[in-house]
Amino acid sequence: MAKPSRSFVCQSCGAVYNRWQGKCDACNGWNSITEEAGSGIVSGAPKGLSKGKGRAMELLSLDTPPIALPRIMSGIDELDRAFGGGLVPGSAILVGGDPGIGKSTLLLQALGALAKKGIDCLYVSGEEASAQVQMRAVRLGLTGVPLTLGTETSLRNILTTLDSGKPPAVVVIDSIQTMFADTVEAAPGTVTQVRTCSHELISFAKRKGTVVILVGHVTKDGQIAGPRVLEHMVDTVLYFEGDRGHQFRILRAVKNRYGGTDEIGVFEMTGQGLMEVSNPSELFLTDRDTNEPGSCVFAGIEGSRPVLVEIQALVASSQAANPRRAVVGWDSGRLAMVMAVLDARCGLGLSSCDVYLNVAGGLKITEPAADLAVAAALISSISQQKVHEQAVVFGEISLSGDVRPVPQAEARLKEAAKLGFTEAMMPDQKKIGIKNIRPQRIKRIQDLVDMFLPDGM
Ligand code: TYD
Ligand code: MG
Repeated sequence: MAKPSRSFVCQSCGAVYNRWQGKCDACNGWNSITEEAGSGIVSGAPKGLSKGKGRAMELLSLDTPPIALPRIMSGIDELDRAFGGGLVPGSAILVGGDPGIGKSTLLLQALGALAKKGIDCLYVSGEEASAQVQMRAVRLGLTGVPLTLGTETSLRNILTTLDSGKPPAVVVIDSIQTMFADTVEAAPGTVTQVRTCSHELISFAKRKGTVVILVGHVTKDGQIAGPRVLEHMVDTVLYFEGDRGHQFRILRAVKNRYGGTDEIGVFEMTGQGLMEVSNPSELFLTDRDTNEPGSCVFAGIEGSRPVLVEIQALVASSQAANPRRAVVGWDSGRLAMVMAVLDARCGLGLSSCDVYLNVAGGLKITEPAADLAVAAALISSISQQKVHEQAVVFGEISLSGDVRPVPQAEARLKEAAKLGFTEAMMPDQKKIGIKNIRPQRIKRIQDLVDMFLPDGM
């Protein structure tokens, strides 16, 4: 009898090895490789993939008029926006996020909203008992909503249910890590299981035109297969992020075959579930402290939408050989770069100071346009001079110390004007300006330093 073949698979990136090893060479993760059964060779399939053994494909010309994709709208604007303008029938969507961030709540609410509009929806929970889901539904005000619920972890049973009768328009699988296919030996949550189950569910979506939404937990320890291995298989990848200490939650599209990426939907977690926040800027600026130096308002763009957020910095002299750098909500490499430019071009001497930077409200900023706002917050903290409280700041800083133009400056200014700001520290973008905002065009980072420290350090 042939010995059953075994392979060793990295649970965070899916790389396969013949032997166990402590470190994955592909993703550099430690202790993430576990043994899984199966060689991956299908027995009984004809050998070789040469001509004459398959079925000819149907070929089309690029000119063939495309079929207009009708979209299913939930009516929750923030959600529809993150989905790229509603759900496309037959698409597969992955919603990832840390455990406990609110994925199940969000999707139950989404299905509730769809079901209220008469769309046939099914929520399959593999994690919670039906009573738990029902209790949550009551809390979310979904009593009397025609939403079907199932609790199951066997993929075979789920597919049998879906294939009998008319398939629902939208199915949520919560979560993909709890599902298991009995065709593979591996334990639920391993890369092989997660991949097999997702593949089956995605083919079901394409075959029947059902929208399949997969929930996936992102965990830092490599034991449970991260949804990252699924990203290339699905049409849309959304991450539900936020800080558990804050009530804000952001649904961010990182991949979308049917819409723009980097679109965000902003929600607030309340006792009655997630509430949409249609004007995030207002919310991010509510508790702003305008009396202390070291903070400023950054006019950013998230997807197609301008968002104003407060950036706070604290610079304190340090006795330690390695001063502390702590960043929340921004890239620490980018902070190091801005500090290096301030040191090298303006001689601010930040290298011997502890520096703390925080983006208020739990938002994560990735735009280089935040450079100037970060620099303004840092300089304000060093000089103990407040940034004008009615000013917004944006601009990219280059290594030479120049302040470079940023995209969508007009949209940023418009949002600032809408919220009553009257000044803008911005790059020297001549043609751009709007009525109620006085621009302070900054060409070089030294100009910004001179505004706060006219007599030098
Ligand atoms: P959940 O949706 O279970 O998270 P996930 O599916 O991502 O693991 O939500 C978990 C948290 O949300 C839980 O700690 C309680 C909180 N929550 C509220 O604050 N209000 C609510 O109405 C609900 C349903 C949950
Ligand atoms: Mg959950």
